[in-house]
Order: sequence, then C-alpha cells, then structure tokens
Amino acid sequence: MTTQLSDLESQLATLKQEALQAIATTPTLEALEQLRIQYLGKKGSLSQVLGGMGKLDAADRPRIGASANEVKEQIQTELEQKKTALQSAQIEAKLTAEALDVTMPGVYVPQGHAHPLTSTIDRALDVFVGLGYTVAQGPEMETDYYNFEALNTPADHPARDMQDTFYLSDGNLLRTHTSSVQIRYMENNDPPIRVAAPGRVYRRDTVDATHSAVFHQIEILAVDEGLTFSDLRGTIKIFLEEMFGDLPIRFRPSFFPFTEPSAEVDVQWRGRWLEVLGCGMVDPNVLKAVGYDPEIYTGFAAGFGVERFAMVLHQIDDIRRLYSSDLRFLRQF
Ligand code: DAH
Repeated sequence: MTTQLSDLESQLATLKQEALQAIATTPTLEALEQLRIQYLGKKGSLSQVLGGMGKLDAADRPRIGASANEVKEQIQTELEQKKTALQSAQIEAKLTAEALDVTMPGVYVPQGHAHPLTSTIDRALDVFVGLGYTVAQGPEMETDYYNFEALNTPADHPARDMQDTFYLSDGNLLRTHTSSVQIRYMENNDPPIRVAAPGRVYRRDTVDATHSAVFHQIEILAVDEGLTFSDLRGTIKIFLEEMFGDLPIRFRPSFFPFTEPSAEVDVQWRGRWLEVLGCGMVDPNVLKAVGYDPEIYTGFAAGFGVERFAMVLHQIDDIRRLYSSDLRFLRQF
C-alpha cells in the first residue's frame, strides 16, 4: 500500500512539473486553453491520477487529496498568470501593429481643378442663378434666322459678312454669338423669363494674343411687364460687383441691332477703363419675332466674352494660353 501512496505522489509531482513547464513555454491563448483541458479537464491528467486514489488506504487518501489540491491550485494559478501575460502581449502586439505615426510624410495625391474658363463661367452663372435666372443652352450650329434675322440684324449688316462668319456649305452657320439662344428660349417659353446662356461661339478672326476663332460667351435675357433700363443697370452692377469687386463702372451708348437703346459697359480696373460687356433693352422687333407683345412686355439683354473676364481676373496676357492645355500654366489657378 505504501508503494501505492508514493507512486501517486511521484505521479503528482511529475504531472505538476510537466504542467508548469508546458504552461511557461506555451505561446498562445489557444494552446493555453488546450493545456488547461489536458491537465485539469474532467478526463485530464489530474483526474486520471486521482482515479488511482480508490486503491489507497482510507488513511492515506486525505494526504493525497491535499497534495492533489495543492497541485491543482498551483496549475490554476500558473494558467491564470500566463493567460494575463498572453492577453497583454496580444494587446501590445495589436497596438504596435496599428500604431499611426502622424509625423510621417503623407502620400501626395495630385488633385485636379476646374479650367479657368470653366470656373469663370461657373462663377458668373452662380451670380445669375442667385438672381433667379435659369441656365439655358442652344446649338453651336445655327441657322441665319436664329443668329441674325430674328435678332433684327439686317441683311447688309457687316456681321453677316463672309469675312466674319463661318458659313457651312448647307447654308447654316456657326453661331457668332450666344444671342441666338435668346430667340430659341423665347420661342419655347412664355414671359416672364430670366435666362443665362453660356456657350461657344465662332468668328473668322485671325488668332493673336487677344483673338480666337472660337471663344465663349454668356448671354443674359430678362423679359417681363414693366422692365426698364434701371433694372438692366442694377443687374449689371450687381453682376460686375460680384466678379470684380466694388469698382466704378460706366455705361456708354452703343449700337446692337437687337437692342434699343444699347450700351457698352466699362469697369475701372487697375487705373483704366476696360470694356467688359454689351447690353441694352430688347428691340421690340425681336419680341415681335417670337410672338411676344412689345406693348405689354419689355426686356433687357447682355452678352459678354468669358475669355475676356478670365484674362482680366487672372492677369492672363495671351488668350492662346487658355487653349494650350499646358499644365504649368493651368496649375496656377
Ligand atoms: N451679341 C453681342 C456680341 O457678340 C453681345 C451682346 C450685346 C449681347 C448686347 C446682348 C446685348 O444680349 O444686348 O458682341
């Protein structure tokens, strides 16, 4: 019987030694849990050793029971400590892996932006939309009717000259101004109307620093009962203030076939008067052409070149730079 007792005692001692060593060297929480089951589980090593207790003398049992408890507690304590250690190591590793060094240089992502012509158009349209205008568009290939005739432009007007207008072989033409959109819009809408029409226009100009055969205009048109030149003046003043700031402006009498009276507007920009747009009260003949009664309705219109605005606002010295797609130039805006 004594052999039995010492047998069990040495088994317990071996078990304890093995277990503590295994726990000390286990690398993961999962492996640790396996060890717990292996040593302390229902069918684990400790239970197996204790299974042998039945064969002991009743007098020896308490002794072995006490040692077994001691071994169990020691293994449990070691398991707990190891668990805590592994858990904090895991957190530590995660923190290191996910650490963000905010002082590291960022990755440069090149960002594009609108072309200066596009941003000038956007800015101008924003002002008019803010005043209640709708944006309208028309075709770049036009008929003589929309580009000239309905706009009260007589057959002998110099603008109709082959020297100035691109005529197409089918008798149509490339619009020389966005004023053609006035007619198209009025034909399809009843007054009161307020529209702003941006777009490309074409002229047979020789290209140089200030001329291009293709450029952009924005046209505005308002028709309602009782509109006067004061309304035109106020609208233009607000628009130019938004674009250039609060600078002196002046209206000079001028002539356009589609407006009566007509004016050209200058802004005092860096010490000199700069012509920026043409405008006027819509000629009654134009209203008649679209079936509006000029006895009831009056209107005002204006048109201006986008390139001109962009060049003045950004101090660009050559119109051709706006079309060259040179990034060294475009990146400046
Ligand atoms: N269409 C004119 C041009 O291209 C600009 C213009 C002047 C438009 C007077 C207008 C206006 O609407 O009333 O030069």
